Amino acid sequence: MTVVAIDGPAGVGKSSVARAVARELGFTYLDSGSMYRSVALAAAERGLSPAEVAPLIRVQPGDRVLLDGRDVTTAIRDPAVSEGASRAAADPAVRAAMAAEQRRLLAHGDWVAEGRDIGTVVAPDADLKVFLTADPEERARRRARELGVDPTTVLAEQAIRDERDRSREHSPLRPADGAVVIDTTDVTLPDVVRRVVELLRDRR
Ligand code: C5P
Repeated sequence: MTVVAIDGPAGVGKSSVARAVARELGFTYLDSGSMYRSVALAAAERGLSPAEVAPLIRVQPGDRVLLDGRDVTTAIRDPAVSEGASRAAADPAVRAAMAAEQRRLLAHGDWVAEGRDIGTVVAPDADLKVFLTADPEERARRRARELGVDPTTVLAEQAIRDERDRSREHSPLRPADGAVVIDTTDVTLPDVVRRVVELLRDRR
């Protein structure tokens, strides 16, 4: 049973790195951000508060995100959902429900889990904890390319969400004790993936 925790701010490449590391190692990938996004989507659709819908969320791990059996992989990438997820993530009741569900999943099998608080809160005993960083402009460029939108708008929205993630009272974004910090600004994706895989091999 092995857990690799990959945390860091929006647009740093966590999902690409975590997916590729999971594929390389034959581990299961857990995108914890998709769970906060699903909470925001479900709350908006049902006219309920994020805390009310949080305990109902069951996300099937893997590349597609299912919410009550419905494939919401595309719907949760909508900018309105991003904003809603960021707000919902500041609610301690939502965080507690998400962390409980994530711990339940991580208790069995081998995982690469990515998010903001995997190494600090969800899995502090993970076999390897990685914190990815990159310059804000570079992160905005990566997100903009992925979404096919204007980098300037992404940069402005990203700054608001970064600040909210870092300054929230509950589980603020920060490197976990013992985390290896990797600055990915000028490093290619395959090189980051190689480094993470090597770090894990060194520890086992
Ligand atoms: O990573 P992603 O952008 O999909 O995450 C959506 C939102 O969920 C983020 O803005 C962040 O506030 C929140 N989040 C969190 N803790 C996690 C994962 C995501 O607070 N472990």
